[in-house]
Amino acid sequence: MDAPYVAVAAAADIEPGKFVKLTLDLDGRPQAFLIARVGDDYYAVEDNCSHEDYPLSYGCLDGNRIKCSLHGSHFSLETGEPEDDPADTPIATYRLKLADGQVWLDPSAPSNR
Ligand code: FES
Repeated sequence: MDAPYVAVAAAADIEPGKFVKLTLDLDGRPQAFLIARVGDDYYAVEDNCSHEDYPLSYGCLDGNRIKCSLHGSHFSLETGEPEDDPADTPIATYRLKLADGQVWLDPSAPSNR
């Protein structure tokens, strides 16, 4: 897989309905991501709620959405859009590919901005 994609997990290690958290060092700056699996689809989003900069990894999946555990907003894993109050700003989503049994993430730039 060509850069900027990096292998972040074995695809089989993420169970359907679950996510994993990982932190990458991007030019000396740590950035946290969630890699989520819904059925056979995989999604990558930033591990940060847009409402009050709270880790979304403290929350849980609800179908193809992630729920923030602090105030309850849901975000689409596909688009990053908030689906209910109080959040009103999208979270960043990132491109993923599956190859060689691995999940590959492009952390270089959000795919929805
Ligand atoms: S911090 Fe996530 S909804 Fe408020």
